[in-house]
Formats: sequence, structure tokens, C-alpha cells
Amino acid sequence: MTADKKGAQANASAPATHARDPATPAARADWLREEIERHNYQYYVLDAPSIPDAEYDALFRELQDIEAAHPELLTPESPTQRVGGQPVSAFAAVRHRVPMLSLGNGFTDEDVVAFDRRCAQGLGRAAPAQTQAPDLFSAAEAVEYACELKFDGLAMSLRYENGRLVQAATRGDGETGEDVTANVRTIKAVPLKLKGRAPEVIEVRGEVFMYRREFDKLNARQAEAGEKTFVNPRNAAAGSLRQLDPRLTARRPLSFFAYGLGELQGVDRPATHADLLEGLAAYGFPVCAERAVVRGAQGLLDFHRAVGAKRDRLPYDIDGVVYKVNALADQERLGFVSRAPRFALAHKFPAQEMTTVVEDIEVQVGRTGAITPVARLAPVFVGGVTVTNATLHNEDEIRRKDVHIGDTVIVRRAGDVIPEVVAVVPERRPADARAFVMPVACPVCGSHIERLEDEAIARCTGGLICAAQRKQSLLHFAQRRAMDIEGLGEKVVDQLVEQGIVRTPADLYKLGVAKLAALDRMADKSAANLVAAIEASRETTLNRFIFALGIRHVGEATAKDLARHFGKLDNLMAADEAALLEVNDVGPVVAQSIANFLAEPHNVEVVEQLRAAGVHWPESEPAARAPAPLAGKTFVLTGTLPTLSREEAKEKLEALGAKVAGSVSKKTDYVVAGEEAGSKLDKALALGVPVLDEAAMLALLRESAG
Ligand code: IVH
Repeated sequence: MTADKKGAQANASAPATHARDPATPAARADWLREEIERHNYQYYVLDAPSIPDAEYDALFRELQDIEAAHPELLTPESPTQRVGGQPVSAFAAVRHRVPMLSLGNGFTDEDVVAFDRRCAQGLGRAAPAQTQAPDLFSAAEAVEYACELKFDGLAMSLRYENGRLVQAATRGDGETGEDVTANVRTIKAVPLKLKGRAPEVIEVRGEVFMYRREFDKLNARQAEAGEKTFVNPRNAAAGSLRQLDPRLTARRPLSFFAYGLGELQGVDRPATHADLLEGLAAYGFPVCAERAVVRGAQGLLDFHRAVGAKRDRLPYDIDGVVYKVNALADQERLGFVSRAPRFALAHKFPAQEMTTVVEDIEVQVGRTGAITPVARLAPVFVGGVTVTNATLHNEDEIRRKDVHIGDTVIVRRAGDVIPEVVAVVPERRPADARAFVMPVACPVCGSHIERLEDEAIARCTGGLICAAQRKQSLLHFAQRRAMDIEGLGEKVVDQLVEQGIVRTPADLYKLGVAKLAALDRMADKSAANLVAAIEASRETTLNRFIFALGIRHVGEATAKDLARHFGKLDNLMAADEAALLEVNDVGPVVAQSIANFLAEPHNVEVVEQLRAAGVHWPESEPAARAPAPLAGKTFVLTGTLPTLSREEAKEKLEALGAKVAGSVSKKTDYVVAGEEAGSKLDKALALGVPVLDEAAMLALLRESAG
């Protein structure tokens, strides 16, 4: 097989020159098609975008306009047709003229050595195992292999006749698959027309898959739209290909790698598998660059090890590597056993997903007080280690995935990432499965667990006394912008906490030079300096003191607002949520957070101890203020705003007293919609709720602030 490589390269690097300013719409449409496919190729096959998105969009729209005005010019290969055609009611069966086989699997080094020996013997290169020591193989005798990745997607057969894609079929049982041509035409990495001189018939085999980053984006979109998310990129790819409406498939970010050949007519087969891959690349197919030609078992094992080392950094999932005898004539000589070729082997990596049973769900407290539910699992070997715990992230995640104690679940561990429960196997739920209930008290310190409105994470409110948060809260307390205790850094705090010397910030004021000097890397002088710094910190300001308490959502600015508003600490301590909402810049989430902090008797106790230890500040009279201008108004944010993050927009709204809710109802006053706004926008329009863009929201904020 010889594709016209030179032609292909010329195509890729420069637009056809003939029709830049064409006389006819037909010529212009031709030029646009070539130009757009050239950019598709650059972007989706070479991963090297050649023009800005806006320019691409302009070319695309121009072509759409010409085709709309001149329907007779429309061709099935036009890039505009990649958006998906008419839905079908079922996929037709396709009989594969050359069967699509599966691969034999190997797991150990011994499996690979045995595979190489079988190949060598089959090709008459080596004596039987008993008589031939492996080190007697000469380099010339060693079998040559093409090594590539085993992509974790779906096998696909693409049939081209005279260079045009005429059929795409799934593997099915290997003999008969399903016709998914309409869906596959939407995959931009799949050429609709081959580059160079194409053979009469060529069936290209490869894998449809999804890049991980695209998978993550897709799942985020699905979640935002309230639709079901996918377990992994492979399932997402499979689900996308199985859509009966190709317009849905077109919105799924599928990709493709070519790795083999089915039927071929009108041109000779290449000599080797490596040449075949080169030829496929020249036709315009994406061929994975992670490939090599090696000799003998050692070469195979080296490739496996090298790929294994970078597996987690690859932008797509693989479940192993594939070895193929390189010379196609040798492949033919070796032939097949049952459904698998003798000339190829899939050398698998440890699975990154396995099923096991959730024996219990407990919660852990992080350094910031975040409460994370953790599944206690029946031990399972996954991603190369035995896993007994997996994070469930938060309560909503447990509800969304519907994980019960007793469930059989799929656990994923990829690389160094913390193992996680990706999905439940619903049909294996036992009758006595129990739902998870978030505890009301922190398992470490017994303080209340709070979950602020609009937040996914529940937290322990015992910030000042909770052992899990001790180090963090002391460092926060001592920092320059808070109590400004110079010399109280991480190393000292670690020792003070670990040796049980300091439990709360109030304990700092009991420290003497002798205790501190006994710590690692502390001399008398530095101990004396630290005691002096602690001493000096007793004299502070109310806003620094409030900030130092480490109340969630109370940063320096809010601490200042609170100090100014209440004037005296006792006024703040006596404030309820309604009173807190009157403070400039304090919205419902912040008010709730402060109220929860103050409702925790342990926290109040530490505040009293600090005052008793002599921490003091000048107090003043409370400032009078008008109620917040947007009090009582409810907003819902959806989609991506052009300049503000979701969090920033929310803060701005709440600062003026507005409430920001998660879902649209009749009670919603405004919906603020950005790009890719989903179902919330639809609902707002259906309910007649006013919709603002970012600019309109900012204008409203300016107006309200006066
Ligand atoms: S070659 C005659 N090469 O693995 C050999 N398959 O168990 C036919 N796969 O269904 C397959 N990456 O979906 C081959 N580089 C690769 C592959 C690959 C993934 C999948 C393919 C097939 C399965 C075989």
C-alpha cells in the first residue's frame, strides 16, 4: 500500500491555491471543504490547531451558507455533514468480510517469553525450549515485533471505497457487527475522504475512544444539565456510539486511533505492520505515536515497562500494550488459533477498575475540617495495590451514585490518585443494604457537623478545638495578617501539637521559654523571641482577632466589616443569623457559617480563654446601617460567565443581600445565564423568570448599590 505521502503533506501544510477567490460557488465550496478538513486534520489528528476557533467558525458558516443556497452542491463528505444526520430506529447488521478477531492475553513476563518462543518456533527461528537456552538466540534470529498501545475503547471497522467512507461497523461478535456509519461520520478524527491516491477498497480497523480531559468536561456538562454521568471514558464512548440520533453523537467528543486492516483491494499489502501504520497515517488517520519496533522477548518487556511508567500521564485510558509480529508474511504463516491470532498478544496492565463490596461508610475529618465519607471495602487488588478504602467525596456524591452499605461497587485506582468508588452495580444490591446517614457530630472532637447552604462539603465546626484541624487552625491564628506571632511556623506547630503541648490557641499564651527551647531546632534565643512575639500579640485589634478565629468564609475583609459593624466582641457573639445578615458584605452563607461557629460551646470557650489570657483590643460603638438592597431577592446562576467565576458572581450578589439558589423555581427572581447554560435556563424561560447576562447583572448590582 502506498499512499501519496507527498501529496498528503502538501495538503496539510498549505491550502489549495486555485480557489481562494473563486468565480463560482461550487469552486468556493470545494475550497472551503478542503480548507476546513485540513484544519480538522491539524486539530483532531495531529493535535496541532492551525487557526483560531473564530476563523474556523467563519469558514464553516460560509460553507453552510453556500450549501443552503445551493443544495445541489452538498456532498456526503462535506464537513458540515459531521453534525449528524437523521435519527434511525435501529442499527442494521453488517457482516464483516474479514472477521474482527480478539487478542490473546498475557499478564506476566513468562507469558511474554512464552509468546515470543511460540512465534520464533512457528517461524522456524528457534529450537524447542528444552534444547535452546534463551541467551543463545542471536539478534538476527530474534523475531521482530511492532509494539503499540491497547486502547480502552471500542473496536471499529471503517470501509472506504475509492477513498470515501462508506461504512462504519462495530465489532459485534467478530463476524457480524452493527452499522454505525451515521454516528462515526460525526467523529472529526475519522477522515470522510482519504488523502492521496486511495485503493479501491480499504477497511481500516481501529479504536473509537474519548480523551480523558474531554470525558471530564462531558461529565461536568452532564451533571450541570442534571443528566446521568458516565463511569469512565470507555462507557461514555460506547454510549455515544449507540445513540440512535447522530446529532447526539456529534456532541460527544469521540476520537479514533487506527491500528489495523480488514479488506484491501487494488493495492498490495505493505511488508510490515509498521509500514501499514505509516501508510494509514499518510491516508489521514490518527495513528498513535506511542509505538515501537523491537526484537525478541526482551524488547517486548522493555516496551511494556516503558509504557507502564507513563500510563497515568497518557491523555487516554489504555489497559495494556499489544505486540504484533511485524512482517505481514510471517503473520500469515503463524495464522490463528480459534478466534485469536497466533502472531499477536495483548500484554495487560493491572486493571484500574475492579468490583468489591462496601462493608461500611465512615467519615474522616481533614485539616480544614472537611468531612469526607470513606467507603470501607472488602480488600480488592486494583491499579497494582490492595485497596481497602475509597473516597466517596461528599454526601451529594453518595446520593448521586446511590451507594449503600452492602453494595457491590466499581472501585477505580489510577496512578497515585486516591481510590474512588465510581459506580454501584445495582443488580448486586443485597436486601439488607443500608443508606448512609451523615453523622451530626465530628468523629474526632464531637463538635457539630455543619453543611452550609449551597456547599457540597460538610464540615466540623470545632475549628479551635478539633485535633484533626489543630495544626491548621494554629497556623492560621498565628499568621501575620491575624495575630502576627512571628516564629510560630509549621515546624514548631507540628511539634507543639504532636507532643500534646498545645491543643487550642489559648494554650499558646501559657508557653514558657523552657518548654519551647526543648523543641527540635529551637535554641534559647529563638524560644525567647517566640515567647516575646506571643506576648506582643496580646495587644491586637478586633478585626484581626475575628479573622484569627478561622471561621469559614470569614476572610480579612469580612472580619473588618464585622468589627466595624458590631464594634464590640460581645455584640458579635450575641448576633443571630438575621443580625449578621445586616452586616455589609455578609450574605446568607457567611451568616450561617458565623452563627454555626458561635453556636458551638467549645469555640465560645476558647474565645473566653483567649480573653482571660489577656488578649485585648480597643472596642468601639456599633455602626448603624441600612438593610441590604437586594435582601429577599433570589438569583440562580447557570453556565459560564464571560469574566466572573461562579463564586465571584455569587459573592457580589450575596454582598448586597441577595440569596443565590441552586435550582430555578417560581420563587426565583432572576436567572443569570452564561455560555453553555443548560436546563436551568430552559426552566427559567418556561417559568417566565427574567434572565440576565453578566453585564446586565453587573448593571443591576451597580444600580442597587446606589
Ligand atoms: S489488534 C487481530 N490493536 O483489543 C488483532 N486491538 O482483544 C485484532 N484493541 O477488540 C486487534 N488496542 O478493540 C488491536 N492496538 C490495538 C488495540 C486493539 C485496543 C482492542 C480491540 C479489540 C481488542 C482485542
